Amino acid sequence: MSRLTQSPAWQALAAHQRQMAGASLRELFREDARRFEKFSFSAAGLVLDYSKNLVSGETLSLLLDLARQAQLPAWIERLFRGEKINASEDRAALHTALRGEAPVIVDSHDVMPEVRGVLDRMERFAEAVRGGELRGHAGHPFTDVVNIGIGGSDLGPCMVTEALKPFGTPSLKPHFVSNVDGSQIVQTLNGLNAETTLFIVASKTFTTQETLANARSAREWFLARGGSEADIARHFVAVSTNREEVTKFGILESNMFGFWDWVGGRYSLWSAVGLPIALALGMNRFRDLLAGARAMDEHFRGAPLEQNMPVVLGLIGLWYVNFFGTRSHAVLPYDQSLHRLPAYLQQLEMESNGKRVDRDGNVVDYATAPVIWGEPGTNGQHAFFQLLHQGTQMVPADFIAPCRSQHPIGEHHAMLLANFLAQTEALMNGKTEDEARAELTAQGLGGEALAKLLPHKVFPGNRPTSTILMGAVEPRTLGALIALYEHKVFVQSVIWNINPFDQWGVELGKKLAGKILGELSAQGAATSHDASSNGLINFCKAHR
Ligand code: F6P
Repeated sequence: MSRLTQSPAWQALAAHQRQMAGASLRELFREDARRFEKFSFSAAGLVLDYSKNLVSGETLSLLLDLARQAQLPAWIERLFRGEKINASEDRAALHTALRGEAPVIVDSHDVMPEVRGVLDRMERFAEAVRGGELRGHAGHPFTDVVNIGIGGSDLGPCMVTEALKPFGTPSLKPHFVSNVDGSQIVQTLNGLNAETTLFIVASKTFTTQETLANARSAREWFLARGGSEADIARHFVAVSTNREEVTKFGILESNMFGFWDWVGGRYSLWSAVGLPIALALGMNRFRDLLAGARAMDEHFRGAPLEQNMPVVLGLIGLWYVNFFGTRSHAVLPYDQSLHRLPAYLQQLEMESNGKRVDRDGNVVDYATAPVIWGEPGTNGQHAFFQLLHQGTQMVPADFIAPCRSQHPIGEHHAMLLANFLAQTEALMNGKTEDEARAELTAQGLGGEALAKLLPHKVFPGNRPTSTILMGAVEPRTLGALIALYEHKVFVQSVIWNINPFDQWGVELGKKLAGKILGELSAQGAATSHDASSNGLINFCKAHR
């Protein structure tokens, strides 16, 4: 057994779980009229209600003991102070500095003047493009921005520009190309005008195969439509930490927006990786997004653990993963504008905490990140909610919604909210056999017909959910929401004693793909792999 699972705080939680496993949420609410007041609070424009979870005051206090045992407050300070807590890459993880104001010292110098410098450059560039001072080679203002990037260089800016579309301007449309599947770039560029299209090639490393392939195809597309080599400078900018590779690719250094190795890819939307956001929404809105995240940072750093939103959300998630054995966690935004949030959180949580060894390299004997998945409501209700209500496994879920719609029309938002609120209540209360029988009897059913249908009409309930509410999806609330999840992931990583800021697990497949790429176009059959891989490669070769 590891030190963690043997620890008093862990053992106390394991014993407590045996008690709580038999608890009924219905009963807990019946017994305590103040349960909502006790188990909900607000911060940075968000409200978190975690009362519909299988927790009592004692659960929370034991979870907080676990957090203290892991020295969470000291880790939070180490994060904000820029200590090199990403040990396997010997780096700090300073996404908080990107939206911060106070000096932060890394390798004995303050990084904030550089952070502000890049933000100011982004501002000048974004406003010049939006204002029509910076134009394409034929003298026309830009109408479309195509961001080429993948993973952290795509998901964040894509999710945010989708979420905040009403704040954008119709005269400058953002597009995102990430997949190396040529269909995506072909379909995106179809219908665009090369004279009015601006490309952002976003890659922290500038060595990512997919991004470079898409960038090369974009360049060819541009040159084939009247652009010259000299015009590339007007139409292509890069966002990267790798100056050398950017210039090798043919993008001028003056067209490069830099950031730093202490910004993890999946934590980078606050840096120059957010350029498509600034272009689409304007720099003021981008700064509002940063301000929202900063408000959550200040809360995370300053609030007591028991009233600390990322801490509580992280502990609740861990409670189910480690003590109830759940293996997946649903994120269900009830707002169409947040339709890319689950995909964004998949990378944030699963690439960060999908780890099997601890900080010291020992294989862990406890579960780490669950599978994160989700879809916007109400669509999910008509697809997978059946399993949430009556399936055999418990899937804890976060329900997220704004009180006001970006597009108020008729009764739509009231209907959306009604469904949102109904689902967490239904998941919690379920429907007992007696209630189901009474309902069927009232419908005129009896005898054998009733007995046959009855088991199908029972909902076990007791399915835990957390609810996050905000006034509206707008730059500040969205910034706070993203930072909430960033810090939640950090909280869990501290307790699991894993490094959330590296991602060695993505290497193996990448390398192998390079080898197979050569084999796909080589003469003769592939023979160097296992029989299955050889067989599949050779089938593809025969049918290409
Ligand atoms: O392969 C995973 C990954 O390294 C992610 O961590 C990262 O966000 C993505 O690829 C893109 O990397 P880059 O920005 O260097 O192109």
